[in-house]
Amino acid sequence: MKKVLALLLALTLVFSLAACAPKPAAPAAGEQAAPAAETPKIGVTIYKFDDNFMSFVRRAIEKSAEGKAELILNDSQNNQATQNEQVDMMISKGVKSLAINLVDPQAAPAIITKAKAANLPVVFFNKEPNADVLKSYDKCWYVGTASAEAGVIQGKMIADAWKANAKWDKNGDGKMQYVLLKGEPGHPDAEARTKYAVEEVKNAGITVEELELQTGMWDSVKGKELVDAWLAKHGDKIEFVICNNDAMALGAVSSLKGNGYFTGDKFMPVVGVDAIPDALEQVKSGLMVGTVLNDAKNQGGATSDLAINVANGKDPLDGTQWKFDNNKAVRVPYVAVTKDNIAFAEEAYK
Ligand code: GAL
Ligand code: CA
Repeated sequence: MKKVLALLLALTLVFSLAACAPKPAAPAAGEQAAPAAETPKIGVTIYKFDDNFMSFVRRAIEKSAEGKAELILNDSQNNQATQNEQVDMMISKGVKSLAINLVDPQAAPAIITKAKAANLPVVFFNKEPNADVLKSYDKCWYVGTASAEAGVIQGKMIADAWKANAKWDKNGDGKMQYVLLKGEPGHPDAEARTKYAVEEVKNAGITVEELELQTGMWDSVKGKELVDAWLAKHGDKIEFVICNNDAMALGAVSSLKGNGYFTGDKFMPVVGVDAIPDALEQVKSGLMVGTVLNDAKNQGGATSDLAINVANGKDPLDGTQWKFDNNKAVRVPYVAVTKDNIAFAEEAYK
């Protein structure tokens, strides 16, 4: 009984204190009033919520839109038909702009047709539409990266590490026998990372031999399954595991661990792209040679900034730090991440 009384007393105190709390001051002249009911609705799709890197981009979009827009957020579940329906639904709900992470990078024209009919601006992000498609509609833009850049940075990292570790050439034939886990085929990031990573290693004067190259669809479980199979087939003939992203690299590391690597002097160099927190842990403990920061925070932030601006009828870049290239694209830079600069990468995912 005493306890109940005490609780009641405490509650009364809290309520009376709240009643006495000073009201927030009215905005001074020239200052913007707190956004109330007037924030625009913005329709957002993510190609699938179940994608490690995209979950960080999604969080960055949400954070940066807080108080400035009402987001209608859709999981397109890796199905373009589902995404098309979601776009119709969002248009019928009166969104003022669309922020679209395509399922199929080739599906941009279908989305543009819908947006055009409703006179709506579209910001595509992460999966880059063809340049001519982007040109076909004056109210559409892209936020992402320069895909090739990640490959070049990763290739340089591979070459530097290979040259610094003569014993990684396990069969001593002077060539690097590698396997490559590729992202989604046809995805500009997957195609460019694959091409430029290997090209950059060759440019550094290293002779390479490709033992395997298959798609793990950006996915950890698929990455693990492939590396399991490749280890069963090639064993120690594999000298380097190159991954288009960190999720697959984590799958590779887990397969390698299961096959006795990373104990004693049994080692395998693995590299990825994204710098997601789980991968940074592996870099820290030496199980990954390095990764490439794919800046989720800034890509999500830029997507949200542009989509809000155009929803409010402003210039897409109004009041932002971003710039367009010749293709109406904002490209956030990639950065090499190894043990030496890990703190910087951790910051980018906070
Ligand atoms: C890439 C990223 C991958 C995956 C993909 C989805 O930029 O590196 O991990 O998220 O986007 O489109
Ligand atoms: Ca070799």
